Amino acid sequence: MTAYRTLDPEGVKRFLAARRELAERLGGEAQDWTVREVSDGNLNLVFLVFGTTGRLCVKQSLPHVRVDPDWKMPLDRTAFEAAWLRRIEPLVPGLTPAFLDFDPEQFVLTMECLDGFVTLREALTNGADPIAPSRILGGFVARSAFLTSYLAQPFEAVTPDLAFFSGNTTLTRITVDLVLTDPYREHPRNHWLPALDADVAAMRSDPQIIARIGALQERFLTTPQALLHGDLHSGSIMIADHDVRVIDGEFSLYGPIGFDCGLYLAHLALAHAATTDAPRKESLAAAIKAFWRTFCVDFLHLWKTQAHGADLYVPTTFSNALHELDALRTRFINGVFHDAVGFAAAEIVRRLIGYAQTSDFDHIQGQQSKADRQRVALSFACALLRDAPADIDAFTEMLHPQANLRITTLPETT
Ligand SMILES: Nc1ncnc2c1ncn2[C@@H]1O[C@H](COP(=O)(O)OP(=O)(O)OP(=O)(O)O)[C@@H](O)[C@H]1O
Ligand SMILES: [Mg+2]
Repeated sequence: MTAYRTLDPEGVKRFLAARRELAERLGGEAQDWTVREVSDGNLNLVFLVFGTTGRLCVKQSLPHVRVDPDWKMPLDRTAFEAAWLRRIEPLVPGLTPAFLDFDPEQFVLTMECLDGFVTLREALTNGADPIAPSRILGGFVARSAFLTSYLAQPFEAVTPDLAFFSGNTTLTRITVDLVLTDPYREHPRNHWLPALDADVAAMRSDPQIIARIGALQERFLTTPQALLHGDLHSGSIMIADHDVRVIDGEFSLYGPIGFDCGLYLAHLALAHAATTDAPRKESLAAAIKAFWRTFCVDFLHLWKTQAHGADLYVPTTFSNALHELDALRTRFINGVFHDAVGFAAAEIVRRLIGYAQTSDFDHIQGQQSKADRQRVALSFACALLRDAPADIDAFTEMLHPQANLRITTLPETT
């Protein structure tokens, strides 16, 4: 047993040099290797290592939040990320980095290096086409969710994963607090532009919104439909040309499938609110539809073709009730959509007023313009929480600011 030590570039070289298989992938000797730190998230250290014939990505958890050393945190998050990657990689071939190694003493995950890729957030900020990756991601969520759910396999195959990922309490606590609770109460972690004060107060005093958030808390913690990524924002996706990879599954848990869908939709909607360019807005709205439609088509196709052995809606019991089976499938998908709408709204709210905000609005010059664009996003989210749209077309209609004016002013009080 070797005591945990936080890695630095020299430590990364020593760590890899001591592991023959990984060292062989790099080629040459440790002194020939170059290490580049690329940590840009809130939580962990990430290094890219370049050898003479190969390259690797090394990710290590810290005993605290990377950007806040006073916020202590257990180390086990890379263990959950490693387990998620190993479980999901064969289900979604080519859509994650390849898993290579996990060291449970140093909490180091070693995986394929996606050098030359950028995060989808960065690509979107630089004007990349959002539609093609959104289709791929719709397929990713459909496959990873369906194939880990009770719809695809006997319950005995689900429950070990359910038990294991239920242990990811540290990061589930972060989601419960940062996404589903803090934005709706006073908390020192929250912060927002002063120009949004009235909007935030109006949101928090709206009983319909608070009731919906309560219902979402219940869905999140009590609906273990499938193994979720748990943090599927545009910074958890890397792209290069047509190659799309989902990274950073450290928040993985069993939960409602609409949570992953909703997070992805939220980040397209945030990008939509952050731009004033009309054609760009159209392509982001088209990407939202493309994601959702691909998800539905792929999920239903899997359900119709790969449900052998499942204990839910057992096909042989439905031979005289095919119409009813179709209706149940539609009801299931509509339920996922309803969850996705709610979680999309909650994700938008927390990225505007919570602890970990989004960089989508950083390019906007001037506090007033930035607040105006953020208000559009916040109003959209509040409208979603008050009156959930029935379908994806209605969802994208609500992206137009004039559809959601109600929340932008706090009622006069005397
Ligand atoms: N396999 C990889 N290949 C190349 N670069 C990677 C890889 N994994 C992560 N990165 C880079 O490292 C950065 C941080 O990775 P990641 O998002 O997994 O870290 P994190 O600390 O968990 O972040 P967060 O706070 O968002 O959860 C990514 O934005 C990306 O630029
Ligand atoms: Mg992370």
